[in-house]
Amino acid sequence: MLEDAFVTRKLIAGNWKMNGSLEANEALLRAVLAGLPAEPAADVAVCVPAPYLAQVQALCQGGPVAWGAQDVSAHERGAFTGEVSAAMLRDFGCRYVIVGHSERRQYHGETDEVVAAKAQRALAAGITPIVCVGETEAQRDAGETELVVKRQLAAVIHALGHCVGEIVVAYEPVWAIGTGRTATPEQAQAVHAVLRAQLRAAVAGQRRVRILYGGSMNAGNAAALLAQPDIDGGLIGGASLKADEFLRIVAAAG
Ligand code: 13P
Repeated sequence: MLEDAFVTRKLIAGNWKMNGSLEANEALLRAVLAGLPAEPAADVAVCVPAPYLAQVQALCQGGPVAWGAQDVSAHERGAFTGEVSAAMLRDFGCRYVIVGHSERRQYHGETDEVVAAKAQRALAAGITPIVCVGETEAQRDAGETELVVKRQLAAVIHALGHCVGEIVVAYEPVWAIGTGRTATPEQAQAVHAVLRAQLRAAVAGQRRVRILYGGSMNAGNAAALLAQPDIDGGLIGGASLKADEFLRIVAAAG
């Protein structure tokens, strides 16, 4: 396919979630930077808690690891206490921001429409949103996986139009996050193929949108997942906090 010709590299992104400290971040990033080849075979990024963006920017600037945030406000500016705007993330050199992570949908009531608005804000500021979709275990058991992920992605396509070609999508089955229960490569590929078809219909003729898998990805299972035709990288939680584990996942993406 024409758009496949534009696929260059996989993306391995760490999601540190609410973990870290000045001391731990520095040790982790120094170990990752020291362990990466000068030109890694995959794109590498870390999405860190907002207070550490300046630290991570200082440590990673000019190197092979991009950085980003884990959330962004759906509003541009103003009286939204506690929120961080896309322009603020841009000030700290963020290349990526995760939006619609299931933990935000679940614990902070983020709807598909809010997630879409956040993706729009990120893109408007020149930051690539990593839009997360994924079904709960109950939804999978009820046979609703396809319906759920398509609905979640459709809201973003509706808001962004053809600009959806600029985003990264992450398929993260909720039942696989932090549980050690990874989706099998076949289970993940089946959902990625659904998302791929939906994206192709929305961005025909444009470059291929990267679709990452997330959910208990580690050094042991990464290669098999990343070998699937529609898995273009990983969004890594727990394993991104261990430099050797993270580096082995990056190596598996080459
Ligand atoms: P784990 O890799 O810890 O399962 O987390 C996945 C995730 O939620 C990444 O965003």
